[in-house]
Amino acid sequence: MRGVAMKLILAAALVVVCGLAAPVQAKPGNAENGEKIYEKRCLGCHGEEGDGLGPAAEYLIPPPRDFTLGLYKIKTTAFDDDIPNDDDLFRMIRDGMPGTAMPGWSDMLSEQEIWDLVAHLKIYAGLEEETPSKQLDYGSQVATSEDSVEKGRKLFHDGDRCSECHGAEGKGDAIKKLKNDNGDRTWPRNLTKPWTYRASSDPKDIYARISVGIPNTQMPSFADPKSKKKLSVEERWHIANYVVALTKKGLEVRPENTVVKAKRIDGEIPAAIDDQAWLQSEPVTFMLVPQIIAKDRFFTPANDTISVRALYNERDIAFLLEWDDRTKSIPGDAKAESIADPEMGQDAVMMQFPVTIPLGAEKPYFLKGDAGHPVNLWHWTSGTTEAEAAVAMLDGLGMAQQTPREDGGGGLTTGSGYQDGTWRVIMKRSLTTDDAENDLQFEEGRFIPIAFANWDGSNSEIDSRQTITTWYWLQLEPSASAEPYISGIVVALLVFGALVWWARGAARPGEAA
Ligand code: HEC
Ligand code: HEC
Repeated sequence: MRGVAMKLILAAALVVVCGLAAPVQAKPGNAENGEKIYEKRCLGCHGEEGDGLGPAAEYLIPPPRDFTLGLYKIKTTAFDDDIPNDDDLFRMIRDGMPGTAMPGWSDMLSEQEIWDLVAHLKIYAGLEEETPSKQLDYGSQVATSEDSVEKGRKLFHDGDRCSECHGAEGKGDAIKKLKNDNGDRTWPRNLTKPWTYRASSDPKDIYARISVGIPNTQMPSFADPKSKKKLSVEERWHIANYVVALTKKGLEVRPENTVVKAKRIDGEIPAAIDDQAWLQSEPVTFMLVPQIIAKDRFFTPANDTISVRALYNERDIAFLLEWDDRTKSIPGDAKAESIADPEMGQDAVMMQFPVTIPLGAEKPYFLKGDAGHPVNLWHWTSGTTEAEAAVAMLDGLGMAQQTPREDGGGGLTTGSGYQDGTWRVIMKRSLTTDDAENDLQFEEGRFIPIAFANWDGSNSEIDSRQTITTWYWLQLEPSASAEPYISGIVVALLVFGALVWWARGAARPGEAA
């Protein structure tokens, strides 16, 4: 597991390094060979005719690029030159477009093969005849500093320049409905999540996006002299530095983080979502993936991560869940409905635990349990104009078998709030109950399976159309008084292990090496 995690980190680091590498030298590609590779690797999404209508396209948001239009999103030619540089295409094929289905191909294709693809793609829109005449002017880069970030912050909010779409905190939560030039729904990027940037969060890339805009979408150019919100070269660098500084800290997914550590505290568990006491618990962030196993399958999620903190005392355990959601989905609310998809539900989150802590590695089926392994489902919903936010306890025996408790909450209490594109929800229960047959009984020190599900109601995420995580672990960190005892056992085990190893070696002197 360690090894795999390490490889993932190294791979991610490599991607970052490659992304920032010196500009690639454009090489002539062989369009004929490019066509052959295209048919094998790209057609499934981008379509036989290059029109973006491959068999997989209907499941993808954003949809695959229609190459016949010759309009590319990530380019470094000037805003008023539609034609991208060959390097731009090369780079997108090599690195892919994070936050979309567009994969990077550096592992599978050689540089020459990627150039061949570039030559082939250009033919769809007759770009092989043309060369871009105007390049983006980078001026001289302003290094980041407190002063530059502060200047950038002011420019970002000045006249609602960027916050108009990206929201007060940059989470892309401004309340309006944006469409791209094809009439498809688009969302402003959540600028606090650099892993969703189509290019990268390197200041140079951000500078390029601010200067050029993202063609075919609502992201405008701020170098365009016709723009009322035009920015000088220097101002664009300040904003780029500010955007880099918006990055979420401590709330990114780390493959090595698989355990939610509940921290033991003295006194009451905080009831308010913004209570400083929560900061005692180290947050862990998990990837949410769309539920594509049970019917209705679902391929186009809006939210991608959920962060968890946990605290407990001698009586109760409580979780603070936090996730970015661009829309507060309150059915019945006219403003919320005006930006939502036609079929709108409540926002919701669910925690899942086995009823019995497994002794070994055996866990219930991760989709809401199975007949032999019942689960407890803690289900919070954001409410409607008629009903408050609420929490319910369900008994799960599988995706199609979830029974709400007769008393509703099953001993759960909740608190919640939505601000600037982020939901924060508390769910709390006593550590033990008098119904051990149906309720998980929390125990200090044990590794307890825990999983999550999430719904963005405005994105028509209802019932089985949800995002999920796999099983992770929850551990109630042993209280200080128990620690010497635990480490005593660990030391004893280590000594015992060493003795066994030594005894085996001693028994077979010939093999001792
Ligand atoms: C699994 C689906 C999938 C496959 C396979 C795929 N793409 Fe894409 N591709 C996409 C999607 C989706 C987008 C649009 C992303 C966006 O709009 O943000 C895209 C966008 C692009 C772009 C546009 C870049 C830009 O700046 O606008 C290029 C170029 C591209 N793909 C080339 C390729 C090539 C070449 C292949 C085959 C080697 C390929 N793609 C395979 C899904 C795919
Ligand atoms: C009218 C709405 C609008 C305004 C104003 C706007 N943006 Fe955007 N922005 C968008 C949209 C929409 C996208 C996502 C486009 C896509 O890929 O579909 C986006 C994407 C981005 C990205 C993502 C780049 C990447 O690689 O994925 C950055 C960075 C960004 N905007 C920064 C800014 C900054 C800085 C400003 C102000 C100077 C600004 N935006 C103003 C709508 C807007």
